[in-house]
Amino acid sequence: MITYKTTRMKLNNLNKKRRNLLLASALAVSVCASSFLWFSPKTELIKKDFTVAEKQYGDLLKTSTDLTQFPRTTNKDGSVKTTDVWDWTQGFFAGGLWYIYEYTGKPEWKAAATKWTEALEQAQFLTQHHDVGFVMYCSYGNALKFEKDPVKLEKYNKILIQSAESALTRFDPKVGLIKSWNAKASWDKKTMWKYPVIIDNMMNLEMLCYVSKLTGNPKYKEVAVSHALNTMKNHFRPDFSTYHVVDYAPDGKVLHQQTNQGYADNSTWARGQGWAIYGFTMMYRETKDQRFLEAAEKAADFYINHPNLPKDKIPYWDFNAEQKGYRPDFDYNANKLSYIPRDASAGSLTASGLLELSTFAKDGKKYFTQAEMMLKSLSGDKYLAKPGTNSGFILKHSVGSLPHKSEIDVPLIYADYYFLEALLRYQKIKK
Ligand code: GLY
Repeated sequence: MITYKTTRMKLNNLNKKRRNLLLASALAVSVCASSFLWFSPKTELIKKDFTVAEKQYGDLLKTSTDLTQFPRTTNKDGSVKTTDVWDWTQGFFAGGLWYIYEYTGKPEWKAAATKWTEALEQAQFLTQHHDVGFVMYCSYGNALKFEKDPVKLEKYNKILIQSAESALTRFDPKVGLIKSWNAKASWDKKTMWKYPVIIDNMMNLEMLCYVSKLTGNPKYKEVAVSHALNTMKNHFRPDFSTYHVVDYAPDGKVLHQQTNQGYADNSTWARGQGWAIYGFTMMYRETKDQRFLEAAEKAADFYINHPNLPKDKIPYWDFNAEQKGYRPDFDYNANKLSYIPRDASAGSLTASGLLELSTFAKDGKKYFTQAEMMLKSLSGDKYLAKPGTNSGFILKHSVGSLPHKSEIDVPLIYADYYFLEALLRYQKIKK
């Protein structure tokens, strides 16, 4: 006899089975949907960012018509502030134009990129400071990827060889590093730097590695390796944070470990830490020397695990600004804002460096995930310019040099450059 209870039980079982089936199908559908969604918005993000980039750089091309004046940031009145061909940032505009061309494939971007690259020709003779690698490799180095004309290619390569020769004029084998700046005084004027080398200088080495490959002459790469090994020895603290400036005696002895653009000598200037992550990752790519990979990973771990890294992963301009135990040598209070500014340029270049690091490191996913969060933040309203604003620059909220009271919380051309590069790296890894 079928009792009411057994009927209920059977119905319950049936319902359970149906429920399980329904649940399983719902789960399957949601897994499919979420894996689609997981990919789709990211593709959308890259597309959206390049749409903004096209609009912004279209505007910048309209306002920047003098090929001896290279867009760098904005003036207080919103006009575009430029540099001449002998500074350090003049190659980034051409580089950004090449990246837009890489993404869009539109010939007008190639034409603009070529024009702004070729405007840098004389900078191959830049020997007054170390930045010739930044200038020439971000511009001519990117041009080589897209130029097909053999006459132009030969010309560009010749220019890069001369640029590498210029870089080598600043290398003293007794010291084993490329001198960044000529002798100058530190902030407290107590020290006169004789042979200052800054962490940023790691970024000049990629061009040297390229020119060794191009010419078959190892001397350029040998200088790059020597520079990177000595930087590894003297710029890192035991926790793999970085000094900005290390000053050397003529025999290569370390004289001073200080800062120029950071908050204090013992603090970690955010962009400097980014240069270290990016630079050592690149040197690992070029040499496969495990020591460089380890340095890059430890510098990256310092950055991504720092308790003072904000939730959106875009750092304050210095990790230790206004913290106890850090004392600036410049008059910080004279220049103090009601907030501690972020540095989107540190954020974008670190995102780019971490993306490359993620392709080499055992724990690559960790670096990829962090970079992805950085890119999402930079693609949000806080940092990404509303099209038609920001004087044509793509990102807002960077800091050039707070101690110098210069370029505080403004757009910077190199923030844009590394942002576009990071988006392209992100797209390639996703593919
Ligand atoms: N290379 C100079 C800077 O990062 O400000």
